This record gives sequence, C-alpha cells and structure tokens, in this order.
Amino acid sequence: MKKLAAGNWKMNGTRAAVAEVQALLAAHPAPACEMLLCPPATLLAEMAGLAAGSALAVGGQDCHANAAGAHTGDISAAMLADAGASHVILGHSERRADHGETDALVLAKARAAIAAGLVAVVCLGETEAQRDAGETLAVIAAQLDGSVPKDATAGQLVIAYEPVWAIGTGRTPTIAQIAEVHSFLRARLSAHIGAEAANTRLLYGGSVKPSNAAEIFAVPHVDGALVGGASLKAVDFGAIVAALAAA
Ligand code: 13P
Repeated sequence: MKKLAAGNWKMNGTRAAVAEVQALLAAHPAPACEMLLCPPATLLAEMAGLAAGSALAVGGQDCHANAAGAHTGDISAAMLADAGASHVILGHSERRADHGETDALVLAKARAAIAAGLVAVVCLGETEAQRDAGETLAVIAAQLDGSVPKDATAGQLVIAYEPVWAIGTGRTPTIAQIAEVHSFLRARLSAHIGAEAANTRLLYGGSVKPSNAAEIFAVPHVDGALVGGASLKAVDFGAIVAALAAA
C-alpha cells in the first residue's frame, strides 16, 4: 500500500495560491508516497493542469449525490472528474456541522463519487464532548458503518479519522489515542467491506504539522494524513510529505 499525504485547503486560496503547488512540485517531484491536494472548486481545473503528469493528484472537497440536475450551487462527482479531480473529500466534520450532512447523505455521495471514478475520502471523528463521554469508538463505528459503501474496494476508498476537537486547534490526540482509533478502524472496516480493508488507506487528520508528523506516521495503521492549515504552504506540506515518505 502506498501511503497518502493529502491536503484540504478548505475555503482558502485564490489563483495566486497555485504558486504553492509549483513550489511543492519543484521540491518533491517524485516522493515515495502519494500526494493529494484538494483546493476550492474554483482552483481545481487550474491546479489539475499544473499537476498533470506529476506525482500530485487533485481532488474536490465535496460533491452532490446526484449526477446532474436542479441543485443550485452544487457540483457533481462527474464535474469534479471533468475538472481533473481524481479524489473527493466527503463527510468532513465541517460539512456535517455547517450543512447538516448525515451518514446517509455521505454514503449517497460516496456511491456517486465512486460511480464517477473518483476515490472517496470519507471523514469521520468524534467531538470533544463525545470523547469525554467515552463514546469515541461507538461514534466512529456508527459513522463508518453509515457512510462507507459496503462494496467499496481499497482503490476506491480512503478513510480519514479527524477528531473534531483537533481540527484547527493545534491540539492532537495522544499517540496511544490515535493508535487505539486506527486499529479499531482497521478491524471495523474489515467487518464492513471485507478483505479490501487491509489495503485501504487510513489517514489521521487534525493539527498535523511538520513538527508532529513523524511520530504520528509511526503509529500502526496510520497510512498518511489529511492536513488542513499546514497544506496551504508548500514548505510545510512538503515537510509532511517528506516525513511520510521516510516513515
Ligand atoms: P488542520 O490540519 O488545520 O487541523 O485541519 C484538519 C482538517 O480538517 C483536514 O481536513
């Protein structure tokens, strides 16, 4: 399994920011891991053009569950693919919170993404209140069972564990907490999709930065990262890519 360093630019970046992509590719033309950047939809086609033929894949941050139709403001999986995306992030906690996305909706979107030939990067993770209440594994199990298509293959699916309280806060779980969740995720995914789970990438996300990447990548069943803030700067994301390539 090739490990995956993925960046989620969220609602950041205008056309000037694609200079960061050029800098990233110049510094890391052929890393020993996969690289993925998910810019806002407005930058997808331009970034995909820059990344064509390189080691960098480009993805969307959401898609609609339907293939086309009267859905003002939405973007279909086929449109992302047409703009040059190979992946799409689905069920990010910000979308679950800001747009009321349920597991059932994330599942429908994941099916649509896979049908359009995209890799579905399905996000899950507990809130701080849920962790404090001892519900972490139960929450993650319910999200996984509810949002991951049962017939997904390792090539069609990536799972990102992102504890909500670690996103954008500078706080991270302990290594033991990450290890507990990731080994639970591997077993639960295996019960859900079978043998394909062994080769499905399980990413950790939430305040990953150059200074903590190496110790997180040493955790069993952590096959890469989904990086927010630190993916916006080529030098920071490049350092995370280098740490993963060395892991
Ligand atoms: P930060 O790396 O900024 O904490 O964001 C993580 C995230 O939400 C990636 O999807």
